[in-house]
Parts: sequence; structure tokens; C-alpha cells
Amino acid sequence: MQKITIQNLDKYVGKEVKISGWLTNKRSGKGIEFLIVRDGSGFVQCIADENEIDAKVFNLAKSLSQESSFELKGTVVKDEKQIGGFEIHVKDIKLIGESVSFPITNKPHGVEFLMDNRHLWLRSKRQWAIMRVRNRLIFAIHNFFQKEEFVQMDAPFFTGNAVEGTTTLFATDFYDDKAYLSQSGQLYGEAMAMAMGKIYTFGPTFRAEKSKTRRHLSEFWMIEPEMAFFDNDMNMDLIESFIKYIVKDVKENCKAEFEILERDTSIFDLIIKDKFPRLTYDQAAKILIGEEKVNGKTTIETLENDFLEVLKNIEENQKEIESAENQIKAGVKKGQKNYLQNKIDTIKNNIKELDEKKKVIPQWIESAKHFKYGSDLGGSDETVLTRMFDLPVMVYNWPHEIKAFYMKRDKENPHLAKGVDVLAPEGYGEVVGGGERETNEELLIGKINEHQLPMKAFEWYLDLRRYGSVPHAGFGLGLERMVAWICKLKHIRETIPFPRMYGRLFP
Ligand code: 4AD
Ligand code: MG
Repeated sequence: MQKITIQNLDKYVGKEVKISGWLTNKRSGKGIEFLIVRDGSGFVQCIADENEIDAKVFNLAKSLSQESSFELKGTVVKDEKQIGGFEIHVKDIKLIGESVSFPITNKPHGVEFLMDNRHLWLRSKRQWAIMRVRNRLIFAIHNFFQKEEFVQMDAPFFTGNAVEGTTTLFATDFYDDKAYLSQSGQLYGEAMAMAMGKIYTFGPTFRAEKSKTRRHLSEFWMIEPEMAFFDNDMNMDLIESFIKYIVKDVKENCKAEFEILERDTSIFDLIIKDKFPRLTYDQAAKILIGEEKVNGKTTIETLENDFLEVLKNIEENQKEIESAENQIKAGVKKGQKNYLQNKIDTIKNNIKELDEKKKVIPQWIESAKHFKYGSDLGGSDETVLTRMFDLPVMVYNWPHEIKAFYMKRDKENPHLAKGVDVLAPEGYGEVVGGGERETNEELLIGKINEHQLPMKAFEWYLDLRRYGSVPHAGFGLGLERMVAWICKLKHIRETIPFPRMYGRLFP
């Protein structure tokens, strides 16, 4: 008999197979046990029927506890109604490892508890789906760059210099010298692009972010392409086709995962099809403060409408709760009562989210109204700006003072730097940061001094401008930010197997 994995069940309909896995959940009926089994590749319901199998096997099925592991033999049956579209009719089970009182049950748990048990939490269905999407994204990212004839190269993790400002450096000891954990592979990427033409790095990067936000990790994975003979317009074209490609790929290949995550993927169709809006920083600022309209509306009008909509929704939800409660009071059958109670709980959760919006929208309005030209876009500014579009928005030509030292200055407008940020829709904010690099050695030296960086550490970098310097550009995509948005997660902590962030080093 063939040992197979759950994701391949479709090839074995009507056949007897063997799988090895763990029990995630169980229901008991009269003389029948419904085992929900996972094997890492998927989930399947296995039915143990008292009348069809050995009493010993049936008793074992009955006694299996959550997360015990076993080998199971049975016949594959097609059933559209089941998760994955198949079920297995059990013939035999062999216990491999017992599991006593698995801490994560089907009851709701607090997020800190789940984070403390991250090593076990990874086994649950939502986490499984997120990790599969992450895996597919990584695969699509490599496919895209390899198809575009980029060479994958690795930048060092131990570095002697800062790239993205000195405030987020993790210092470490390197044989009695001070070294930092890399914030970005970019500077090395530039050197590699001069050797290979088009390269991309894909590795962990480290930033000491001493605050808890839903968008920041201390250790995250970044994809950083760098291209010789590229300006920022070409860079933006590449970013756009790159994002379209990976979104299309996950949309097509992660259908089951998105179903588990209850992720409505219709927004992806627009992203694949439509051109991304490109706004200069000046334009973005004007839109933010309401000086420029998008589709005939200002941000402030749009947000005020959103606010009224939220109030209306809260009211409607409350009415629905009242009506369900009145029905329960009037007396209903047990099944109906459970149904209504569940409905009330769901609506209450809805209201919680709406209340949160009711609180933040007025704050967004205030901060948009008071946005100061010349300052960086804050998280809420990004949310407000992207609220006006259903697509990722590219903001380019930034005031050079708020961008990194290596950014190319615009010849026509020397107060601007040729950087680009891509802001994801649905409130996810910046997912890509990049731009064209400064090639003028003098300007670069000026910037290194202005940022009070140690010149000695950048001598090698300046060499790149001394020997056959060419226009070049690149960008960095934060993998976890992308996973969070694609899966529409509330927090970045679920996008990586073992998140490292302020206040979290274990497990
Ligand atoms: O905008 P950043 O700082 O740009 C760079 O590091 C450039 N050197 C990239 C380049 O041009 N080669 O970071 C790039 C992206 C951000 O847009 C964001 O997606 C992600 O990295 N990122 C973070 N993700 C999670 N946690 C953090 N603390 C992050 N900081 C940046
Ligand atoms: Mg950035």
C-alpha cells in the first residue's frame, strides 16, 4: 500500500492508502468517530466506523487526543462537502506518539499565550495557511527575478557600517571589533550589480525598533534587487511588474489557503490588471491635506463619509443583536438558541472592529489635515493616502532631507531625491522602499558627513563611484509586510515562523 500525503489525495480516489499525521480535532457520533487529521501538507476528515473495523482500532480512534501522532490506513472517497474535497474511510490506525493536554485548544486564547506557544501554534490551521502563502511568495519572487535574468547573491550579515540610519543598529562583537547586524544588503548589492549587471539579495535584515507596532519586526527578510544602467523610472516599472507577477502567482496557487484565511482575493484582480498610481511626494502631500482631489473627492470628505458609514453600521449591528436577544428571550429551541448566540458573538466582534475605526478615523483626519510639507509619511498618512485608491500607490521624488544618504539628487530640483516608496492598499502602508543611487562622489561624501557616518567605513563604497560608475537603482521589499498584506493579517507577528521583535526573543 502506498504512503501518500494529503495534498495528493485526488490521485487516489477509491484506493487504499497510508498517511502519517496528527489529530487536530475530533467529533464523535453513534458508533462513529470523525477524526480531522493533518500531515503538514493538508487536512482531511477520516471516518472510523465501528461496524467496519476491528474493535481495537475503533477504540484507539475513540481515545486519540489532540496532536497525538499516528499512521492511518484507509480508502479515499471523494466528497465535495469536505475540507479539501475528500475523506478517508479508516481501516487501521497505529499510534506513534501520544499527546497529553495539548495547550492550544479550539477555545479562544489570548495572543500573548499563543505567542509564548509559537512552537506549537504553528500547527494550527490559520498559521499553516499563512506559512504556505509565505512559501509561495518566496518561490514566486525567485521565479520572477530568475526569469528576468537577475543573479541571486548574498550580502554579509555582519557589517561595519550603517545603511538605514544609525538609530536602529544592533551592535555586536566581532573578534573585539564592533560590528553591526545588517539593516540592508543594498550597499553590497550595488557592488555586486557592478560585477554582474542585475542582482538580487534575499536575506534576513535587522533593525532595533524599540516600539511595538503591527508593522515592525526586529528581524525581517528583505528582497533587494539592484540594477546597473537603471534610473528610477525603470526601477518603478520593474517594481510594478514584480508586484503584479507575485500577486498573480499567489492568487492562482494559494486558493485553499486564502479560503482558510477568509481572504477576499477580488482586490488582486485589479492589482494584476490596472496601472499603479504614481504620485510625486508633492502631489501626495497635496492629496493628503485635501488640496487635490482624487476621483472628485478630497481625503477629508472621503474619511468623513467613512466615519458616518461606521456610525450607521454600528447602529445596524446593535439592532441585529437586540432582535436576536429578543428572540432568545421569547424562547426558542436549543439549536436555534445556539445559532442566535453565535450570531450575537460574531456581531459583537464586528462592533469591536467598528468601534476601533470610530476612534481612529477622526485621528486620521486630524493628522492628514495637519500634514507638514517636508516631513515623512506616518503610518496613518499612508493609510489615508491609499484609502483613495484600490491599488498599491508609488510615491516618488522625496525631499532629500528625509531620505537615506545614498539617494540620487534630482538635477532639476536639488531639494528632491529620486526615492520611491510603494504603499500597499487596505491600510498596510509601505511594503517597498527604493530609488536611484547617488553617483556623484562629492555629493555622496557631503551626505556621509551630513549624516555623521564614519567615512572610513564607506571608502570601499566610494570606490564604486571611482571606477566606471554608472546610473543604477534598486529597491527592497519587506517579505513579512507583503505576507501580512496578502493574507490581510492584523499584525506582522504571524507572518514569520519565529518572530523577533521588541519584547520577544522566545520561543
Ligand atoms: O525602506 P527601507 O528601509 O529601504 C531599505 O532598506 C533600502 N536599503 C532598500 C533598497 O533600496 N535596497 O526598507 C525596505 C522595506 C520596507 O519598505 C519594508 O517593507 C521593510 O523593508 N521593512 C520592515 N519590515 C518589517 N519590520 C521592519 N522593522 C522593517 N523595516 C523595513
Ligand atoms: Mg522606507
